[in-house]
Amino acid sequence: MTQDEQKLAVAQAAIQHVPVGSVIGVGTGSTANLFIDELAKIKHKIEGAVASSEATTERLRKHGIEVLDLNSVTDLPVYVDGADEITRHLHMIKGGGGALTREKIVAAVARKFICIADQTKLVDILGKFPLPVEVIPMARSYVAREIALLGGQPALRQGFKTDNGNVILDVHNLHIMNPVELETTLNQLTGVVTNGLFARRGANLLLLGTDHGVETITV
Ligand code: A5P
Repeated sequence: MTQDEQKLAVAQAAIQHVPVGSVIGVGTGSTANLFIDELAKIKHKIEGAVASSEATTERLRKHGIEVLDLNSVTDLPVYVDGADEITRHLHMIKGGGGALTREKIVAAVARKFICIADQTKLVDILGKFPLPVEVIPMARSYVAREIALLGGQPALRQGFKTDNGNVILDVHNLHIMNPVELETTLNQLTGVVTNGLFARRGANLLLLGTDHGVETITV
């Protein structure tokens, strides 16, 4: 299977995990977009969706799927989203599309995080993909200096603003041996809104596209 075929296969497989009559948390990115297209085919069976970005909101609405405010939702059984990197422990780097903060909020509320990814995303150690960190604009230089002291090489994502009006520092040259610890350390830097490590709250299930079909991985 090509990478695109793998993305489609995992998006279709995720539909089996959508409970009838529920509100679904929906992620952001090219794999999540394919999931939205599949979700549209069963939209009469769900109550609506909570979106993790403006782009996802727009795509859901185009399909006629109702987008609900997370604050009005009392139960979110499932959140479906892609990843930039994921390990077999189901720790992830996310935020390649810049939606990490809202993704992390929706993931925190959801009872189950289902990650959908093609096989290029599976890694032994996180960090080859630059780690996105969302930062309040006035703290950009300070946070960059602090990250450099931690051993990373931060680069400002040029010409980019998040849905929350903030900037992204992409941190290169990390070899993340303890993702839970680094996630906590980065979050404690003043001015950091969120970082793209999803380790304290990783995925519960990975649907991985492979050459031979969809592999299901749990921890
Ligand atoms: C968006 O901010 C990201 O977290 C995406 O979930 C991640 O970049 C995966 O995107 P693709 O499915 O396009 O690879």
